[in-house]
Amino acid sequence: MANEPSFARPASSLMRTLSLDIARVTEGAAVAAAKLRGRGDERQADAAAVAAMHRELADLAIDGRIVIGEGERDEVPLLYEGEELGVGGQPVDIAVDPLEGTTLCAKSLPGALAVVTMSERDCMLKVPDVYMEKIAIGPGYEPGLVSLDRSIEENLARLASAKGARVSELTACVLDRPRHARLIEEIRAAGAAVALIGDGDIAGVIQTCKPDETGIDIYLGTGGAAEGVLAAAALVCLGGQIEGRLSGLSDEQARHAESLGIENPRRLFRVEDMVSGDIIFAATGVTDGPLLPGARFFDGRIETHTVIMRSSTRTVRWIRAEHLDVRKFER
Ligand code: FBP
Repeated sequence: MANEPSFARPASSLMRTLSLDIARVTEGAAVAAAKLRGRGDERQADAAAVAAMHRELADLAIDGRIVIGEGERDEVPLLYEGEELGVGGQPVDIAVDPLEGTTLCAKSLPGALAVVTMSERDCMLKVPDVYMEKIAIGPGYEPGLVSLDRSIEENLARLASAKGARVSELTACVLDRPRHARLIEEIRAAGAAVALIGDGDIAGVIQTCKPDETGIDIYLGTGGAAEGVLAAAALVCLGGQIEGRLSGLSDEQARHAESLGIENPRRLFRVEDMVSGDIIFAATGVTDGPLLPGARFFDGRIETHTVIMRSSTRTVRWIRAEHLDVRKFER
């Protein structure tokens, strides 16, 4: 079957030892953001998540380097691209989204997450702060079944046929944005349904991996490029497929992409072009959502829900944590 895990990496690799420690990184960010749920202040919630994630990463036994962060060194004080973090250890590259869905958190709407991924050095695509066109499906299909190089109608027909279903039985997840008006029309004209999300396309992409539970068969549309790489990290752990293409690039943005090592910024990236080697991905719920429940606050106790995945073994861990030492989140 397509996308069977190869289990080729040694079980004792660095990522194995980090794959539990990484939970503290997203738990810390999620709790910090969750304390500011529904306050209508996106910046404050984001800043709290950034500071907490920075603190937790700084405590890890890694020689870490941020490759996808919150911005350039001269723009942001913490988690900037190139920042080195950790108390020392094996070298790892880190991509962060301390608060994925700032608006969702500020409005206390479903689906906000704290997300981080780690790889061996130079195994994640570095992208500028631009949009990326994306297409993603779950595991079990022949490689290249769907592609940004095919029409929407063709992609949906090929997916339906591989599933042994009709196109009318498919649902595509799409970000609810005016720029997607034509895409949405095309999906509906082909006969499929559209599930619109307000924000949070990392979770939208991941949902394609459990279509029986989520009702989402395919992700389509344009969102953040950084979110595209983070979603690719999750999909490589889950055996799904994703393609991305940087979109709407100005000449300056194209030059920036080139300076980050992307030879042809207008090319199509397959999952293996975005992430390679042994990857770990973690997400903790900030608000309740389709992927994870949000952080819950009780008298003297905080509860968090985290998913951690590792690509070389395709292990997926769901961790419900009860934190009695709530002061550790107030450092
Ligand atoms: P933020 O957390 O940075 O607000 O991102 C949320 C998000 O919905 C992402 O999931 C998505 O990739 C991106 O915004 C889409 O960008 P835009 O809101 O500009 O359409």
